[in-house]
Amino acid sequence: MYSRILGTGGYLPEQVRTNADLERMVETSDEWIIERTGIKERRIASEQETAAYMGTEAAKKALESARLQPADLDAVICATTSSQYAFPSCACEIAGALGLAGVPAFDVAAACSGFSYAYAIAHAMIMSGQAQKILVVGADRISHACNPQDRTTIILFGDGAGAAIVGASDEQGTLAVHLSSDAKRAPLLTLPHPVRGRPSSESDYLYMKGNEVFKQAVVILAGLVNQTLEKAGMSDADLDFLVPHQANLRIITATARKLHLDMSRVIVTLDKQGNTSSASVPLALDEGIRSGRIQRGHVLLLESFGGGFTWGSALIRY
Ligand code: COA
Repeated sequence: MYSRILGTGGYLPEQVRTNADLERMVETSDEWIIERTGIKERRIASEQETAAYMGTEAAKKALESARLQPADLDAVICATTSSQYAFPSCACEIAGALGLAGVPAFDVAAACSGFSYAYAIAHAMIMSGQAQKILVVGADRISHACNPQDRTTIILFGDGAGAAIVGASDEQGTLAVHLSSDAKRAPLLTLPHPVRGRPSSESDYLYMKGNEVFKQAVVILAGLVNQTLEKAGMSDADLDFLVPHQANLRIITATARKLHLDMSRVIVTLDKQGNTSSASVPLALDEGIRSGRIQRGHVLLLESFGGGFTWGSALIRY
């Protein structure tokens, strides 16, 4: 028995925040943001577009693409660090909104690496026979946790949700997963949640020492992609697509270079979405599939890096 992806879906809020909008909020420029990050616009969730709401919408699309009904699912895992409630979990809210009861539902907190963690757990549950079809969601509204006056963070983050249905199969979809963390540099990237999602003082906002995080991300991701390929006994020549976490185009191009991959074989969504935290990898995967670039049989390397620090990957044959 193996695990593989049966379907994917995504949800983005309607409201667009462009670089021109940011020029009116903080001292910055469209040129600076594009040159340093690659981001042109991002989506901003309304009050109603909670992590659970966005996650549910992404889940419905993933179920549709897998030709499944909510009742076919036997677990719900949601990666998020910006859900409205500590409890009920975002996964329980999503299960409830889908009319699903009697199955395990729980959240995973690993910041921007959340989807990689949730995917690896789903894979392990399937391999151990605990579940046959699992809804794995990444849903975040981190833009609301950024200080609107902090030009080093407000330019980066957008909101959204992505989802995948991971199912048992006699075809090997998941070739290798790798998860890791190291708290030594945790203070470089933090988000307190004294009042979840509603910052009321300066110290409640997301904090990031951007250039330090940048350097660490490049080094950690270079090691991660090699370790993942090694685990599966594969090399970069076997890869069809890199589906990276969308934090910064310069980080993505550095990882692609390391893998000797032309940028035409890298899924990039951050120009339109910014960094959507745990939603970024499943949204990029969904975009790659829906655009027709990713086809059944392609070998994909999904990777992510985030606060904690945490990092994770999945090497899959779609
Ligand atoms: N507009 C204009 N200038 C800005 C700016 C903005 N939005 N943000 C910072 N600057 C300024 C800085 O104040 C600094 O000015 P100084 O030289 O006068 O002190 C200068 O630009 C360079 O700052 P620096 O932080 O070194 O820039 P950078 O090239 O590292 O880019 C980030 C900043 C945040 C875009 C980049 O570091 C990054 O993307 N980091 C990683 C982010 C990430 O991956 N985070 C999440 C992990 S999940």
